[in-house]
Amino acid sequence: MRRPIVCLVVSLAAVAAAAQPAGRTSFNEGWTFVKDGESRPVDLPHDWGVDGPFRQEYPGESGKLAWWGKADYRKTLEITSEDLEKDIDLEIDGAMSHATVSVNGIDLGGWPYGYASFAVRLNPALKPGRNEITVHIDNPEESSRWYPGGGIYRNVWLTKTNKTSVAHWGTYVTTEIGPVNRILNQADALVTLRVTLKHAGEKTVGMVRTQIIRQDRLKRDGEEMVMDRILAETRSIEYVEDGKTVWQTFDLPGARLWNPDSPTIYIARTTVETPDEVLDTYETPFGVRQAEWKADGFYLNGDRTFLKGMCLHHDAGALGAVWNDDAWVRRLQMLKDMGCNAIRTSHNPPAPEFLDLCDRMGFLVMDELTDTWTVPKKEHGYAELFDEWAEKDLVALIHRDRNHPSVILWSIGNECGEQGDSTKWWIPRMLTDICHREDPTRPSSAGNDNPWAASQGYAKTIDAYGFNYKPHQYAQFVKDHPGQPVFGSETASCISTRGYYLFPVEQEKGKGWTLDAPFQVSSYDLYAPGWASKPDYEWQYEDIVPECAGEFVWTGYDYLGEPTPFNLDPSVLTNFHTEEEREAFKKMVAGWGQTIAEVPLPSRSSYFGIIDLAGFPKDRYWIYQARWRPELPMVHILPHWTWPGREGEVTPVHVYTSGDEAELFVNGRSMGRKAKDGYRIVWDEVVYEPGALKVVAYKNGAPWAEAEVKTAGKADQTALSVDFAGDDLTFVTASVLDKDGVVAPDADNLLSFKVKGPGVLVATDAGDPTCHTPFHSPEIQAFHGLCSAIVRRTGPGEITVSVSAKGLNDSKIILP
Ligand code: GAL
Repeated sequence: MRRPIVCLVVSLAAVAAAAQPAGRTSFNEGWTFVKDGESRPVDLPHDWGVDGPFRQEYPGESGKLAWWGKADYRKTLEITSEDLEKDIDLEIDGAMSHATVSVNGIDLGGWPYGYASFAVRLNPALKPGRNEITVHIDNPEESSRWYPGGGIYRNVWLTKTNKTSVAHWGTYVTTEIGPVNRILNQADALVTLRVTLKHAGEKTVGMVRTQIIRQDRLKRDGEEMVMDRILAETRSIEYVEDGKTVWQTFDLPGARLWNPDSPTIYIARTTVETPDEVLDTYETPFGVRQAEWKADGFYLNGDRTFLKGMCLHHDAGALGAVWNDDAWVRRLQMLKDMGCNAIRTSHNPPAPEFLDLCDRMGFLVMDELTDTWTVPKKEHGYAELFDEWAEKDLVALIHRDRNHPSVILWSIGNECGEQGDSTKWWIPRMLTDICHREDPTRPSSAGNDNPWAASQGYAKTIDAYGFNYKPHQYAQFVKDHPGQPVFGSETASCISTRGYYLFPVEQEKGKGWTLDAPFQVSSYDLYAPGWASKPDYEWQYEDIVPECAGEFVWTGYDYLGEPTPFNLDPSVLTNFHTEEEREAFKKMVAGWGQTIAEVPLPSRSSYFGIIDLAGFPKDRYWIYQARWRPELPMVHILPHWTWPGREGEVTPVHVYTSGDEAELFVNGRSMGRKAKDGYRIVWDEVVYEPGALKVVAYKNGAPWAEAEVKTAGKADQTALSVDFAGDDLTFVTASVLDKDGVVAPDADNLLSFKVKGPGVLVATDAGDPTCHTPFHSPEIQAFHGLCSAIVRRTGPGEITVSVSAKGLNDSKIILP
């Protein structure tokens, strides 16, 4: 990756990191956005859809937001004659969609796929002085099954390089390791780096020099400093010509291995030099690790590593599709704390910075190309692009991402219609061949849902076979295809709303919601649409098929769009076009024991998340934590215990724990000690009375963890706390509490936020999938007692955030 180079070479005495000349600079600031005849200044990344308003008549499927349309982004670029001796590229990490770049009215090309990163050479249209850059976006309706966003929603860079330099995405690093020292997590490693050069003019002689660097963080006199340790160096004197690839190898004795618990990153710093000058400096961060797919699972550095994965769409809730580092550090940290070690970037290439975070925070990534091949899912979806662009998109994805230690799988597609058509199996075969050609070190994969295809020749077109929602086929697959890796590429799709419980508690998976207000799904974690299941169903099979390499749960977070079951999908059919279509689906749905809504549906975001759209964990968070972090003493009780009007009624209590037994107490009276039955401990006969519900969990007979929920009184006050503080964004949680400080679990007070000092309120969100308040509104209703406010720092100094609500005590918090 060509990254802005911040100088990290410091002597032990030096502390401040000074900027070095860099070929690549951020080009995010100072654009003019022109849409529907209006123009206004914007900084990138920018998503024109997320500001809303939400409109009831827009499809819930893509978030009830207007993300489609045409628009221009314009910016002036000053260029000197000296600059023109260089190659000048505009690099766009992601523009939704069909972006074309022109300079001074001259069209320079672009890239249609909204999730791809690409570079456009500007030189053919540049002149000394002012140059007008326009990025035109044409984002068609009916092109996505979820909220895609609209506009240049990821970072943009301007890169000036010498005519002789490292090519765009021009490095490829691989590592091999010897026997692992498990105590030190080290091994002797051989690093191979391929450097592809670009060059204009006559063949010439030059030197490619690469140093392998480990950056150590040290504290000296209370201040943190980073010190580069140069561990190896190779110099290659070569004839330089355009497209030439130089191979370099390095021995790294005792290299620190990359894994999710200890994600050590090294840097290959490559310079291209002549005897008189350094023509280019290019940094390639990488990890030393050995990733192996075997018949019995995935092995990292020789250790079998079960994939405890999450599928994630690309939006960050109230920020929409806009890329933001802080928002994603917060999101990934919460998943990490749950025990998650893997992410599937469903169903598209992620922002490049997303993979940087996965490298640094320690996640294994299934990096996905697309949701469709040639069989369309939406009229203007990727199928329209496939013939012309699939190879280019896949090559771009692999060249961009193949140096990330986090990436362990190239996913060539999701639930593609061609699975069921043997005349089309050349498509996955071709895509797999491209993966092998561009990166022989990682297998291809795909999310597959066609139960028949798994036993056919189709299965052989993919290296590591991913099942979507078919754990009952794992064992047969292992028999049919001995030696071929298999895992759950999409699992569960359990649905729930944080804080909402429906009584009586039914066991059938379609009985967790009603098809009228409040359009929420009970949080007992038992409910799912027809093709899906509660988490427990997947685990039963994982536990009896040892070959299964792991799973990617649908989904880690709620996302904008696809509000199943209040959606246009087989579980609810309010929007179906023809009676015939409706009838056919009704029959199918009836077969699953479900019925169909006949009312306008307000929902604009999903119910699948383990964590809601605002970033508050649902109950499900703890059933996954209990399974994935068995060493962490924890226990969680549901439901909440504030049920005025339910006195004397049966109110089942479910407990999730990493222990193996638990005893439940209602106001001090034992409801009995029970062992785990499956994956939870259930007291079905508990009768509600206000007070305290307490659980004591045991492991191997010894006390392990305790939890208590108390009945809340009337909402009395608000409270603010900092949930996550980054350099750019701070996430503040507002809670509605009773006078004793217990969260009022049904509070929906209208909250009003104010920010004073060097900060602005960017968005608010309480995690209610039916809420139509625009995200930028400072006033929003709490949802089940909570709300999140996102504040951007605009300068140094104290920021005060305050919240008020009618009838409640106000509160404020100072962000240092
Ligand atoms: C899957 C699909 C996902 C999502 C999910 C919801 O079939 O691959 O994109 O739609 O269903 O359950």
